[in-house]
Amino acid sequence: MSSVTIEQYIEVIYALENEKGVAHTTDIAVELNIKPPSVTEMLHKLDDLDLIIYEQYHGAKLSNSGKKMAQELMLRHKALADFFMIIGVDEETANFDACKIEHHVSPETFKQLNQFIKFAKDGPCDPLWLEHFNYFDKTGDRKKCICQSRNTPI
Ligand code: FE2
Repeated sequence: MSSVTIEQYIEVIYALENEKGVAHTTDIAVELNIKPPSVTEMLHKLDDLDLIIYEQYHGAKLSNSGKKMAQELMLRHKALADFFMIIGVDEETANFDACKIEHHVSPETFKQLNQFIKFAKDGPCDPLWLEHFNYFDKTGDRKKCICQSRNTPI
């Protein structure tokens, strides 16, 4: 079983547990578009890995290590979605793509992504390069300088 598959289950169980208190096999099957017997089989495996606590007929809940994995996934998801929105992607698409890519990001890329987001969002002054990019994105024009009227040094 791939780590992507495990992470997808952990994400769905996390969301269902938050919503309903417990993640039922049938709900997981609907969310992941997988047949219930396959879900049950996977839940046994995740239980063996100590990522969930699974009781047949009751459903699954995340264990402490499962919760830790879910939180890490959410941080990766948020960083990717934030990055996509910074470069002009709409929120829905940014979240959709983040959810797919979050399973394939190395710790190093994730660290640098966070550094970049921090820099782009919390700079001491507005990052002019980002304004330039937004202007270029909308107009396709990269020759005209939009900061001529401003006194802020680049
Ligand atoms: Fe996600």
